[in-house]
Amino acid sequence: MRTDTSPAIYRKDYTPPSYWVRTVQMGFDLDPAATRVATRMTLERNPAGREQALVLFGEELELVQIRLNGKALSRRDYALKDGVLRIPVKLDQITLEIETLIRPDKNTSLMGLYVSNGNFFTQCEAEGFRKITYFPDRPDVMAQYTVMLRADKKAYPVLLSNGNLVEEGDLGDGRHYALWEDPFKKPSYLFALVAGQLVCQEEKIKLQSGREALLQVWVEDGNLDKTQHAMDSLINSIRWDERRFGLELDLDRFMIVAVGDFNMGAMENKGLNIFNTKYVLANPRIATDVDYANIEAVVGHEYFHNWTGNRVTCRDWFQLSLKEGLTVFRDQEFSADMVGTDSGRAVKRIDDVRVLRQAQFPEDAGPMAHPVRPDSFVEISNFYTVTIYEKGAEVVRMYQTLLGRDGFRKGMDLYFKRHDGQAVECDDFRAAMSAANGRDLTQFERWYSQAGTPHVKAKTSYDPVQKTYDITLSQFCAPTPGQDRKQSFHIPVALGLLDSSGKDMTLKLDGEVVAINTVVLELTSAQQTFRFTDVSEYPVPSMLRNFSAPVVLEYDYSEEELAFLMAHDSDAFNRWEAGQRLATRRLLALTAAVQKSDALTIDPALSDSLRATLNDTQLDPAFRETVLTLPAETVVAEQMDVIDPQAIHTARRFLRQSLAQALQSDFVRAYQSSQTDGPYSPDAGSSGKRALKNLALSYIAELDDDYAHTLAQAQYDAADNMTDRMASLSALVNSQAPGKAAALARFYSDFEQEPLVIDKWFSLQAMARTADVAVVRTLMQHPAFSIKNPNRARSLIFSFCNGNPSRFHAADGSGYVFWAEQVIALDAINPQMGARLARSLDRWRKYAPALQEKMHAALKHVAAAKLSKDTKEVVTKSLAAT
Ligand code: TRP
Ligand code: ZN
Repeated sequence: MRTDTSPAIYRKDYTPPSYWVRTVQMGFDLDPAATRVATRMTLERNPAGREQALVLFGEELELVQIRLNGKALSRRDYALKDGVLRIPVKLDQITLEIETLIRPDKNTSLMGLYVSNGNFFTQCEAEGFRKITYFPDRPDVMAQYTVMLRADKKAYPVLLSNGNLVEEGDLGDGRHYALWEDPFKKPSYLFALVAGQLVCQEEKIKLQSGREALLQVWVEDGNLDKTQHAMDSLINSIRWDERRFGLELDLDRFMIVAVGDFNMGAMENKGLNIFNTKYVLANPRIATDVDYANIEAVVGHEYFHNWTGNRVTCRDWFQLSLKEGLTVFRDQEFSADMVGTDSGRAVKRIDDVRVLRQAQFPEDAGPMAHPVRPDSFVEISNFYTVTIYEKGAEVVRMYQTLLGRDGFRKGMDLYFKRHDGQAVECDDFRAAMSAANGRDLTQFERWYSQAGTPHVKAKTSYDPVQKTYDITLSQFCAPTPGQDRKQSFHIPVALGLLDSSGKDMTLKLDGEVVAINTVVLELTSAQQTFRFTDVSEYPVPSMLRNFSAPVVLEYDYSEEELAFLMAHDSDAFNRWEAGQRLATRRLLALTAAVQKSDALTIDPALSDSLRATLNDTQLDPAFRETVLTLPAETVVAEQMDVIDPQAIHTARRFLRQSLAQALQSDFVRAYQSSQTDGPYSPDAGSSGKRALKNLALSYIAELDDDYAHTLAQAQYDAADNMTDRMASLSALVNSQAPGKAAALARFYSDFEQEPLVIDKWFSLQAMARTADVAVVRTLMQHPAFSIKNPNRARSLIFSFCNGNPSRFHAADGSGYVFWAEQVIALDAINPQMGARLARSLDRWRKYAPALQEKMHAALKHVAAAKLSKDTKEVVTKSLAAT
């Protein structure tokens, strides 16, 4: 904890380490109040190093002793300041022994070694290992680890670490030990240990090469009825990486452990992945379809890191997207392949693009905007962002769009051939893609170095005499902090032209056939014109198919053209996109009308198109659900110069109610025809049906009449799975239904023993239409609430501040006062959580002056408090002049 402003670290200042670490032997005497850590490492001088000293990092450690080549060092032999320990040595080979004492039970930051529900866990990425011992804790220092764990046998019967178990036994005196050896060298951020009372589901599988591997999913006693889906997802991930990328599991043993206190989703520690329980535990009683899908995606993500992140890792933390963007891309492709159908892939793509637009576009337009490969940071934990992850995945996807699937695979193969076992840069990945395909990707580098969301403007003209169709594309990217002028990006624009019957035209560019349906145009300058020839009739362009680049496409479609695309486009993503454009226009017009107190009216063009999609039983239910879901309030907000959360909310609510009225019988029919029978299954077909059914229920519930109340109550009473239960509870809670209080109470008592379900209970209430600060404060007094548990804090505090914009931005500023209090409170316990919540007000300048003023006051209040460097960085950047 420090109050002075911490200095920024710059990418350009990278220097190679002065020493490499070859081997690390660690001994842990596990005790919650005082764990003794003895570390012996062998080091070798790096001829390329520039520092004339061995540099180690350490935080919140009690240093017991250091011995260099067997000789104990005294305080005069080294310098220790601000978490950096410097030993002035020039020897080529060193053996260093360090003994530290740490207090896991006092560790509320959940970084380093900590205790959760009586068990020990570690989290070392990015810089948590330095809370365990002094070490060159940087990702380019890779070493081979051997780990001895000792602990009380009754309290901690299970002792796990990375790699293979080589020995275990009793120590007498009620204690026991386990010795683990990781055959692969790794950076310290991938170190992990787990100790405690845990049980596992295990399975042996045969890998592609014929080798056998043991897979385990470890959980607390009582949760073994919730591990099957995670195990299935792990096996599917292993199979998928073998098939799609020819990458095999390189270990004999692969473990997943679930923990209830965790800052993020999960962590890819070598051979010992540690997961937030939210992304492991599932059965129909406690998990929704979305939970099942998320578990599959996160299990895949962490598993895929074994190659993209662990075998090939990052040279420094500025390269974070090298592993995260690539691994998100891989998990997205995995999830899409698991569904298999074209329409299922489109639904997955739509979900991913939604996240990008709801979270990443705002980040790219705010004070925390940063390039996919940042140039500087104060606290690396603040850079685990949607830009690094989701935009990073879009950047990787663009390689595949430009090079084709086979070309992309060649690039991946070369990347591993060149860099297996190394710590590298984003540039190395780009170079492998380029070399494997003989393509110049120099300009593509700007996707890594320039922040901001490019806008692509399209203008078209048709010449009926010459039969030519010209498309002029231009690009523009607004300034972001520290980057006033942007250079042109290399933007793949996938495009098709529809004839009047709605079919794809064969595409000729300047006389040459380039595609029978979709061509990828490459926009590389500020403006370019592409001339299509032999275009027999006036076409409707389908641009940026499958969202081929993370940009905002501006084109002046007529309402008729959008309705036409919605009905006919062979690209399912763009069918959805056309509907979103229509709805967004409507929502913006309605929002303006609300602001002027004009009468609100519904537009038959939109409701007719939506009705047609809703009733088109040729289309997958899951796809129909995405089309009928209106753009989120935050997506509408991005389109406004001055955000007015209340007006947006009123407009969106009005549109939903109008649609509910206009399409009432259609929704009732959809509801009835989308029932699933038989036992619950989370497969894409059944979950798609449930999604459409529950969307219909949510529209019907907008009418808030007896019919709606009875329908929701009946569904609640009959529900045999959490998806249907949550959907009906949400319908009840957001209505005037007489049974809503009773349903909430019953839900609580039925699931009191299931923390993940109680999270849903808090979250639903925090996001309810009637929620306000008073409601949230009352819920914080509930005995089940704890601010120390990240999942619980997220379910209540974050759900309100981020998931209920119209109530959070209440005109009286009560939401901001609450926010400031909670940021300060959370920061004192867990800086990463405090800094995350601090982000909720980072775009304060986008709001009307009356709100701005109150947000500014709240930010100033937080800035004046004693803060971690995490939260300090966020509020400082939020308040900085633009
Ligand atoms: N590398 C992890 C992932 O993307 C996430 C992660 C990074 C993390 N830092 C963390 C998880 C800190 C928990 C705590 O899968
Ligand atoms: Zn990751």
